[in-house]
Amino acid sequence: MDILSVEHLTKVYGSGPTATKALDDVSLTIRAGEFVAIVGSSGSGKSTLMHLMGGVDRPTSGTVRMNGEDIYQRSDEQLAVFRRREVGLVYQFYNLIPVLDVQENITLPVRMDGRALNEKRLRSLIKSLGLHGVEHHLPNQLSGGQQQRVAIGRALMNSPAIVLADEPTGNLDTKNSAEIMGLLCASNRDLHQTLVVITHDEDVALMAHRVIAIEDGRIVSDERRA
Ligand SMILES: Nc1ncnc2c1ncn2[C@@H]1O[C@H](COP(=O)(O)OP(=O)(O)OP(=O)(O)O)[C@@H](O)[C@H]1O
Ligand SMILES: [Mg+2]
Repeated sequence: MDILSVEHLTKVYGSGPTATKALDDVSLTIRAGEFVAIVGSSGSGKSTLMHLMGGVDRPTSGTVRMNGEDIYQRSDEQLAVFRRREVGLVYQFYNLIPVLDVQENITLPVRMDGRALNEKRLRSLIKSLGLHGVEHHLPNQLSGGQQQRVAIGRALMNSPAIVLADEPTGNLDTKNSAEIMGLLCASNRDLHQTLVVITHDEDVALMAHRVIAIEDGRIVSDERRA
């Protein structure tokens, strides 16, 4: 079953002579439970694609369907709910809230929905992300790698059916990177969580079932491994 289907997606930033076509007629489908790596050089359109798959921005043209439903038929308010409930987004530049501490950042989507907090889940995430002891630190009191792990915690807190992660190990050393990828791969394998990871790291791409390469806003290769 396809969880995500992207059809003829185009995104143009700006207008007139300064317009940039960041995505140019991209189509792809992702099956439930797949682990897909997206690779490509800087400026090729990877983050733009992730934002459009996650309901963060609206396309210039084309559609994004999650479980068959065209997400951009929704209002901005409905899209905000979609982002909190249906996807786990790890932003390239974290997007943590500076005045909230680690624990508050991780639990923000749950609290914004007025849902009960699963304390056990929170404790186990904090532990597996190596954030024990810094729960009450603000983002500016954390290293880049710690901030990245908070962003991952926030995305995983709800156990979403699909995680879209933009360079989730971009700021981590080899050991931490392996641990974080271990955590993401385990939820993919054990919980059948669909995982889409943008990466510059060949080791991370090698863990995926499928690697999609993007250049100049277009898919240039899409390979499944047996
Ligand atoms: N908000 C924006 N306004 C204008 N242009 C943008 C905007 N966001 C991205 N772009 C442009 O769109 C193109 C694709 O950018 P994008 O951020 O998707 O690349 P990327 O593949 O994620 O790069 P990187 O590996 O450096 O993160 C680039 O030319 C970039 O300059
Ligand atoms: Mg990017």
